[in-house]
Amino acid sequence: MLLPQRVRLVEVGPRDGLQNEARPVSLEDKVRLVNDLTDAGVGYIEVGSFVSPKWVPQMAGSAQLFANIQRKDGVTYAALAPNLRGFEDALAAGVKEVAVFAAASESFSQRNINCSISESLDRFLPIMEAARLHGVQVRGYVSCVLGCPYEGDVSPQQVAAVANELYAMGCYEVSLGDTIGIGTPGATRRLFDVVAGQIPRGKLAGHFHDTYGQALANIYAGLLEGIQVFDSSVAGLGGCPYAKGATGNVASEDVLYMLNGLGIATSIDLDKLIAAGQRISEAVGRSNGSRVARARLSA
Ligand code: HMG
Ligand code: MG
Repeated sequence: MLLPQRVRLVEVGPRDGLQNEARPVSLEDKVRLVNDLTDAGVGYIEVGSFVSPKWVPQMAGSAQLFANIQRKDGVTYAALAPNLRGFEDALAAGVKEVAVFAAASESFSQRNINCSISESLDRFLPIMEAARLHGVQVRGYVSCVLGCPYEGDVSPQQVAAVANELYAMGCYEVSLGDTIGIGTPGATRRLFDVVAGQIPRGKLAGHFHDTYGQALANIYAGLLEGIQVFDSSVAGLGGCPYAKGATGNVASEDVLYMLNGLGIATSIDLDKLIAAGQRISEAVGRSNGSRVARARLSA
């Protein structure tokens, strides 16, 4: 199969990356990160979450963050919303695109959002209705698509069923999340192939955490399946607070380097992205999780 000519990267570092930081990250550092990513040419930035601050304290200042970033025309600044309350808070903060998040495994759904899969889907219906009313686009996530930290194996059919519900209720795109980074390329190809039996490939995205070092290979497997949207996190920041041991998403710099090498176009400047990742890594006191950034910065 031919590789796509162009790929859209969804930068989830400010949200998926920073949500897992135990120590508070200052508003100033978060604002600078989002502005640096904008300057690097990133077209889609997941800025924060309108979730319960008791569940994810690091995302508590998301409204303030949205009030302070410099928005550039043509760039999408999105936020997670788990329920109508979160959607309304996001709307009040001037958010134009939200993401709802469900899971393919019941145990993860309970641990992450304290309800069953079907209850979560019911909660999203009023969000979809309000979003339509306000012209807000909604992206959907399915977690644990290649395995669950509590239940182990997850079948592609289970994933397809949840993804299809999200698509049918009006999510314009569904991102399939390997939350614990456990998948391998063959399983990834099979997953996209099965889910694409229900949802067009152009409406699917891949979201790979890099816990087992398989994320780039899984993205390549996704490209071979005709997937053109991938989520990534600058400097490989992050993890999921409800998936113990899960590390950050694949580093955006590493994905971009691979895409550049494959001759696949994006809108992003690698040098500026590396600088953005290094700046936030220093600000949060972490070593830079991007192999490409480390290589370039030590050269
Ligand atoms: P709950 O405790 O069942 O909710 O939590 P509740 O309705 O009973 O409310 C409890 C309290 O939370 C109340 O406050 C509510 O007002 C408040 P209290 O009366 O106790 O003071 N509350 C809220 N506050 C702020 N914003 C809200 C909100 N809703 C209720 N939106 C709930 C249910 C969904 C709220 C909770 O479980 C939650 O916030 N979970 C978020 C978990 C999360 O953010 N996880 C990480 C993101 S998902 C992820 O990382 C995976 C992904 O990257 C893909 C992948 O990798 O697989 C997307
Ligand atoms: Mg994630």
